[in-house]
Amino acid sequence: MSHPVPNYFRPLGDTGIRCHPLGFGCYRIAEGVAEHESSLREYLGQGGNLIDTSANYTDGRSESLVGKALSSDGALGTVVVTKAGYIQGQNMTLAQQQSFPEVVEYGEGIWHCIHPRFLETQLRASCRRLKRDRVDVFLLHNPEYFLSHQAHHRTPTPQDHQEFYRRVGQAFSFLEEQAKEGRIGWYGISSNHYGLGSADPTMTSVQRCLRQAVRISSAHRFRVVQLPLNLYESGGALERNNDGLTALEFCRREGLGVLINRPLNAFWANRMFRLADFRGHGQGTDGPRDLELLVGPLRRLERSLADRMKIPLLGGPDFGLAGLILQIAPQVRAASDWDWVVERYLAPPLQQWIQDCQKVCQGQDFWEEWQQRFFQTIRAVLEGLERYSLSRQQEVSDRIRGLLEECGYPGNRASLSQIAMSLLLNLKGVSCVLNGMRRVSYVQDALGAVGLPPVDALSILQEFSRRRPALPG
Ligand SMILES: NC(=O)c1ccc[n+]([C@@H]2O[C@H](COP(=O)([O-])OP(=O)(O)OC[C@H]3O[C@@H](n4cnc5c(N)ncnc54)[C@H](OP(=O)(O)O)[C@@H]3O)[C@@H](O)[C@H]2O)c1
Repeated sequence: MSHPVPNYFRPLGDTGIRCHPLGFGCYRIAEGVAEHESSLREYLGQGGNLIDTSANYTDGRSESLVGKALSSDGALGTVVVTKAGYIQGQNMTLAQQQSFPEVVEYGEGIWHCIHPRFLETQLRASCRRLKRDRVDVFLLHNPEYFLSHQAHHRTPTPQDHQEFYRRVGQAFSFLEEQAKEGRIGWYGISSNHYGLGSADPTMTSVQRCLRQAVRISSAHRFRVVQLPLNLYESGGALERNNDGLTALEFCRREGLGVLINRPLNAFWANRMFRLADFRGHGQGTDGPRDLELLVGPLRRLERSLADRMKIPLLGGPDFGLAGLILQIAPQVRAASDWDWVVERYLAPPLQQWIQDCQKVCQGQDFWEEWQQRFFQTIRAVLEGLERYSLSRQQEVSDRIRGLLEECGYPGNRASLSQIAMSLLLNLKGVSCVLNGMRRVSYVQDALGAVGLPPVDALSILQEFSRRRPALPG
């Protein structure tokens, strides 16, 4: 007996599919990572039914994880969206062996292709990894690489656009055949450029893509588009770049399902913001004094060595690792950046300094003991630094929340991530918001966004987009 579809499920355009308002985004998800598998199972267990992946996510291991989870769970009625177009990793090896036509050699290790001969290989590989003989929705993955590549050399011309849409049309003809043979249900395009202004020479138009499909058949199966949309990148809801309509309005008029990606990763002023809470809303921000306190034990330990052994500190008198950290920490924007900051900026001078000290102090008990305490202290300081960075990120999140409230969002106790996703869910024309919920706690947080009270999301987004430059740079 099949279960009735919950009433908060939404139509995916005219496909007849009804999907959960939140989709499980599989970017950076891989088979073999237990936490990713648990998160996907949690999502499915909580009633989620739309999974978005791609042939190139973690070089195919994302699709393999989906295949594994769905085959063991049965998960009947789960809608699987996958994409093709990127030539990286194992696809690069394939492309070098088979030399596909119309490859865009975008950069070192990153090529792109939407030619049917390449798409054929991708569809076959995706079905194998997904353990399905049919993909529900198959999307061309960022075909705008063609235009962006042109833009590296010169401004794309109308002829470039004509060629771009010809290639899209050629891919669509192939996808129509696959749909007839039952290997895909519906097809479409995921483009990061659907929300750009019409004046942007790399903007992609849903309307022109649709025209290509209509040219092939009036009963075409082009029914799904995907685009980024968040508080900072709101072009899909605000730019009138399709026949005087926004991408969302146009898709709604034409019966196209819309999947939103990157709801929390907002790119603005050459900087990525995470629209989420980091250590609890309104807990105050750590400043220079907190940083001084944090590195205090390290500073004292370094001085004790300098005094006892008459050794210069790393970087000169009164500097040391503590001084280096005080210099670097305010520039670290995210707690997750600390791994590479340590690797690149702290570990090399530290290693050199320890080697220099070793030459002077080797064999002395004080030195052996001191080293042990020093490395223990470094570990504690690094944990503290992560907390320090989280608090700085939270400061940005608190300011975004404050600005949202000034723009008309009613104050509530929801997390910023829930608010950011709920706003998108309240925009007319959005079928499903995809979220990279690769931790169980993210799944639980995300699903909480569905129950937030409705708001006039478009007005809030319009107002927010007028004011957002005032936010920290
Ligand atoms: N061109 C395309 O077709 C395209 C582009 C982008 C995305 N997508 C699709 O859209 C999905 C969503 O986009 P995304 O994963 O890039 O961005 P997102 O959903 O905005 O999430 C961004 C990051 O935020 C963290 N996060 C996720 N949920 C959270 C929560 N509830 N609270 C706090 N932090 C949270 C995760 O990072 P950590 O795990 O590192 O903390 C995640 O990777 C992707 O997974 C993919 O399926 C498609």
